[in-house]
Amino acid sequence: MNYAKDFSRVTQSMGSSMIRELVASTKNIEGLISFAGGFPAPATFPKDTLAELYKKVVQEDGYDVLQYGASEGDRQLKAELIKWEGYPITPEEMLITVGATNAIYLYSRALLDPGDVVICEAPTFLGSLVVFDSIQAELVSVPINDDGISIQHLEAAVQRCKQAGKRVKFIYTIPDFHNPGGVTMSMARRRELIAFAIRNEIGILEDNPYSRLRFSGEPLPTLYQVNRDEFAGFEVVTEVVSFSKILGPGMRMSFAKGAKSLIAKMESWQQKVNVTPDCVSQRVVARFLADGHMEGHLKMVNEHYAPYLKTMLDKLEEYMPEGVKWTKPQGGIFVWLELPKHISADDIFPKAAENKVSFIPGSKFYPVGQEEFNTLRLNFTFSSFEQIDTGIRRLAELLKAL
Ligand SMILES: Cc1ncc(COP(=O)(O)O)c(C=O)c1O
Repeated sequence: MNYAKDFSRVTQSMGSSMIRELVASTKNIEGLISFAGGFPAPATFPKDTLAELYKKVVQEDGYDVLQYGASEGDRQLKAELIKWEGYPITPEEMLITVGATNAIYLYSRALLDPGDVVICEAPTFLGSLVVFDSIQAELVSVPINDDGISIQHLEAAVQRCKQAGKRVKFIYTIPDFHNPGGVTMSMARRRELIAFAIRNEIGILEDNPYSRLRFSGEPLPTLYQVNRDEFAGFEVVTEVVSFSKILGPGMRMSFAKGAKSLIAKMESWQQKVNVTPDCVSQRVVARFLADGHMEGHLKMVNEHYAPYLKTMLDKLEEYMPEGVKWTKPQGGIFVWLELPKHISADDIFPKAAENKVSFIPGSKFYPVGQEEFNTLRLNFTFSSFEQIDTGIRRLAELLKAL
């Protein structure tokens, strides 16, 4: 059977992941130091506690959790998550999902028709762009600066879409420890963004896998919290929180919070796509929270990562030539580099691989046709201190030679 002739038009238009291809292209280079991936450090996975909890949950709650569960998610987990979040949300304002990517898909399914516009930040997380693309949304990117998404550019972009008769359905943003941009949206910008979304009746999809990975500085309230606290009655923000970088991405655990009416439609899509999230893992996370493991665990994760970030920032300072700039995040897992305008990170990628160091060229984090080339992303959570030292030195030497 030749399936190729039967693939849907959307399937036919899908490319393979450029990032996966780039990472694969350097896989067999011996001694390569890679800052390319976005993997959390295995040392941060609470393996022993989870092993105990999985056993306990199946032994004690097996007849319940091995059965089909509710599409909205486990009620016990929701109750624990609501306590963890620390402000009153009803279970109907929350949906448990199979990772953030799945929540982003369900949200997009609930809101998008082909041709609708999604405003995304430039740069942004490629994994979400491909989700929006799979529903045939039009992607319009708006630059970010040190304070987060530029409201001035956002206003202009929305205006242009309206004039062209297009419907802007939502703004996709990563306010805390941006992937790949490394920046955190300021408090003033959070307020401005929400006020803008309310004025224009546009939703905000807040993607939050990293806010709890804060190693220094004061945490800021999420957009969802600011929306509830300061703009009560205008429910524009839907926040997606992932446990991928907290407990381990293999668990595929996350949750979304938003307006009841929208959460209900996302649940309806969940019924069709997943039936239910994994009931065993949901109860394990519920127990992890109920037994009080989360606080100490997050402290351990952040204490583990902080010196890796410090090493990367110190080594950048020590080795990089003048003209190269980088973000100085207080958490998350990425640092974003800006090279002089005439240098393309795509062009230097193969040379860097020859010199046994790799990264993701920044151009891969923009919608097609809206790329910037003089940027690159570095991950600091998957290399040793020694590798960070050697890898940054190799990269700096290459840039100096240019
Ligand atoms: C901004 C952002 N959103 C979503 C995801 C995917 O999260 P999940 O593993 O929960 O699907 C990632 C993972 O790297 C990410 O960086």
